Amino acid sequence: MAAKVNTITVGESSAVEDYLERILHLLDSKGYARVADVAEGLGIAQASVSNMVRRLDEKGLLVYEKYKGMTLTKEGELLARRITKRHEILEQFLELLGVDKETAYHDVEGMEHHISSETLRGIQQIIVELKRDSAMQARVESAAQG
Ligand code: FE2
Repeated sequence: MAAKVNTITVGESSAVEDYLERILHLLDSKGYARVADVAEGLGIAQASVSNMVRRLDEKGLLVYEKYKGMTLTKEGELLARRITKRHEILEQFLELLGVDKETAYHDVEGMEHHISSETLRGIQQIIVELKRDSAMQARVESAAQG
């Protein structure tokens, strides 16, 4: 496991990150996560989801029971929370640029897997600065709107 302590570097493939993010979201919002829900959420065929879920179970990131669905292990949940936090930071950043919610979500889904913890820390500081300086935030927003 390449996950580093105290950073949001996850060290998993984009696909694994998307699964963990979706599963955590389901568990937090519905209290359970079944293969069908994950498949629907990710727009992936149930057979492919079953295969990946088995792999994640073998990796020790979740526990899958055929008719009950899945729960995240401690390690899986930690990773999923880190992925979710990273998503939220990037989304917050794009919102400060005035990017509309739908575009922001789409952009974040593309960016989030490829961002280093160094870049993310820089972005976190820019968020702080933009919130502190509403004139700067307005200039940035108007530039982004073109
Ligand atoms: Fe995401």
